[in-house]
Amino acid sequence: MKRWLVLIPLCLSGCSQETPPAPADSPAPAATTPAAANPAEAGKKLFEASCSACHGPEGGGIPSLGKALKGSPMLKLSDADLVAFIKKGREASDPANTTKVAMPPKGGNPDLTDDDLGNIVTYIRSLK
Ligand code: HEC
Repeated sequence: MKRWLVLIPLCLSGCSQETPPAPADSPAPAATTPAAANPAEAGKKLFEASCSACHGPEGGGIPSLGKALKGSPMLKLSDADLVAFIKKGREASDPANTTKVAMPPKGGNPDLTDDDLGNIVTYIRSLK
């Protein structure tokens, strides 16, 4: 409990100085997280964690694991259709499967949200 006695005066002198009024012509305040400010950057991190093991760190593909995503004809799909594909994956037994290797739903990471997948799609589209 004694800590409060120390912290409160510190805050009274320190906290009030932290928010000077912004001049009217100042640029928009920076987003709180870089991830929110840059979907491709957020998508890159998620891609490296959940997709690159099969598709390669730059989406170049890994033989007998995952196809190259760079330049894939699938990128012609809309963002929503691409997200839907990634959510569903593609079983090896699916007639549409071209490699006889399964693409697991969400790359095997059920924690990925639609927003995460949208960011991943943005990242994949940025691959050159
Ligand atoms: C366990 C390996 C594996 C992981 C992990 C994986 N994929 Fe795949 N992915 C595949 C395979 C294999 C295919 C090819 C399926 C086929 O032959 O039709 C594929 C196909 C795809 C395609 C279609 C490419 C095309 O040209 O047909 C997309 C898009 C894709 N994956 C995105 C992702 C994303 C995004 C992630 C991460 C969330 C991911 N994959 C994680 C194995 C994987």
